[in-house]
Amino acid sequence: MNPAPDWYFLFYFAILSMLPASMETWVILGGPLVVILGLLFLPLISNKGDRAPSRRPWALAVVVTTITALIILTIYGAKAPWSPNFAVQPIADSIPVTADAAVRDGAQVFFSKGCIYCHEVNGDGGQRGPNLSRVGDRLSEDQLIIRINNGGHNMPAFAGRITHDELTTLVAFLTSRRADYPSPRSPDGANLPLTGTASPPDRR
Ligand code: HEC
Repeated sequence: MNPAPDWYFLFYFAILSMLPASMETWVILGGPLVVILGLLFLPLISNKGDRAPSRRPWALAVVVTTITALIILTIYGAKAPWSPNFAVQPIADSIPVTADAAVRDGAQVFFSKGCIYCHEVNGDGGQRGPNLSRVGDRLSEDQLIIRINNGGHNMPAFAGRITHDELTTLVAFLTSRRADYPSPRSPDGANLPLTGTASPPDRR
């Protein structure tokens, strides 16, 4: 299920994720070859000079830069923000909803349609797409409907896979995700729970 490699190859995983897909095979096969050949021929090309690091600023800079890049890429590879987060929990008490029935139903749809695998709301969800915690400040209802029906770059289109009622409540939920939205609590003070299970979106 989990396509991530062991930790010592996470940097490579991150590099490959940033390449155009058409280059992947070339880099996977050719990259190590170029590095190994380079290391084999290095002593023949560059075999004299000082060894003290203080007298070799460029060599030192290359090593430090490489190590820093490997560390950053490893962290990035571990987070894998480019892939949907299927581990996200369908019941998210941390997402503040409200007594407003449409908004609450919409939050359910947000889980059941799998939006949350790719979109974070209030700290829960995947990072494949933009964070939607404040999407109500950014997009109008019409813009939301257009986006959900048509999908977009790396987002599936939901037209035909979502009923009119689901779409209406989903848009109510999304427009309620605003900075100034009152943090809603049920009368006894707890965040209102959400129920239901999320199903993965169809792969295209
Ligand atoms: C497979 C991952 C994926 C799924 C599932 C998904 N989205 Fe997206 N979504 C994206 C990506 C990626 C973008 C950015 C697209 C672009 O740049 O054009 C996006 C963009 C958006 C935007 C525009 C955000 C903005 O700030 O402009 C909205 C709104 C949105 N999605 C809502 C939803 C809703 C609602 C659902 C569920 C019905 C959903 N998405 C399901 C990946 C996904």
